[in-house]
Amino acid sequence: MMENQLVLDVQGLKKSFGKVAALKDVNLQLHSGEVLGFIGPNGAGKSTTIRVILGLIKESGGSATVFGEDAWKDSVKIHKNLAYVPGDVYLWPNLTGGQTIDMLLHMSKQQHTAKTDELIKAFKLDTSKKNRTYSKGNRQKVALIAAFSTDVDLYIFDEPTSGLDPLNELIFQQQVAALKDAGKSVLLSSHILSEVEKMCDTISIIREGKVIETGSLESMQHLTRNVVAVKTASPLDGLDQASGVHQLNFKNDQHTMAEFTVDSDQIGSVMTLLTAQTIVQLKTTPPTLEDLFLRYYHSDDDQKVGE
Ligand SMILES: Nc1ncnc2c1ncn2[C@@H]1O[C@H](COP(=O)(O)OP(=O)(O)O)[C@@H](O)[C@H]1O
Ligand SMILES: [Mg+2]
Repeated sequence: MMENQLVLDVQGLKKSFGKVAALKDVNLQLHSGEVLGFIGPNGAGKSTTIRVILGLIKESGGSATVFGEDAWKDSVKIHKNLAYVPGDVYLWPNLTGGQTIDMLLHMSKQQHTAKTDELIKAFKLDTSKKNRTYSKGNRQKVALIAAFSTDVDLYIFDEPTSGLDPLNELIFQQQVAALKDAGKSVLLSSHILSEVEKMCDTISIIREGKVIETGSLESMQHLTRNVVAVKTASPLDGLDQASGVHQLNFKNDQHTMAEFTVDSDQIGSVMTLLTAQTIVQLKTTPPTLEDLFLRYYHSDDDQKVGE
């Protein structure tokens, strides 16, 4: 695939189920060689969006194109170059894991290769067991192994690691990184923020059927506040008047130990204030995606939280 090509383009997407407006305004763009994190709480519309992208359901408005083709009309063509792993994996109960992997590969016109064996080993899957004996995590492994050993340009994972333990989660992250290095595109939906934070170039946040923010994590951090814990030689009186300082909490009566949050764009001026009192100890914690997420999901009481 050519560098930086638009692989997935979702514009003003709407989807209603009867009276339920599941998607109201979804916008997503994914380029080649990119990992796009699609995050939002349960019921926000992640799976519905993915089902439209996969051509499983038809949109009620807006558009979804994959490789420049219409997700609904051209789904057969699109699917030749796409691998998908759902959050809930259902498999033929009487086939073994190994048979299932080969079946899935066969269905997408792929071969069982050395890569497939490598993946089976990495995920430590016992392929001789029947699917019906597998836990949720093992069923996910079967689908992930088949997907990762499929050579296509677009990989879509819908909360694929909810049943995996941390070790397998790490294997998953390594495999996604390898896809990215190979110039592939990955759409990864999740409500596990740390997962998305580690792997994704761009993050789109969906809430109640609307994508409300898109950007790199860095570009979103101006929206959140650093947590500062400081110890100084002289009292920090006057800090409560400083602009950009919130939730100030003195830890001792002398006012030489304090904890507070600071707007990211005011850190410089606040540091100058602290330095004037001679810093003895300092710890700053940058905003995490978690903070950002909370800010959006509790936007109604956000003002109160900050003051
Ligand atoms: N087939 C359907 N019929 C009616 N409502 C649906 C259907 N599929 C999804 N929904 C509703 O659409 C909303 C979004 O669901 P979903 O896309 O599964 O969210 P997520 O994957 O983010 O958890 C939810 O309110 C859900 O109940
Ligand atoms: Mg879902």
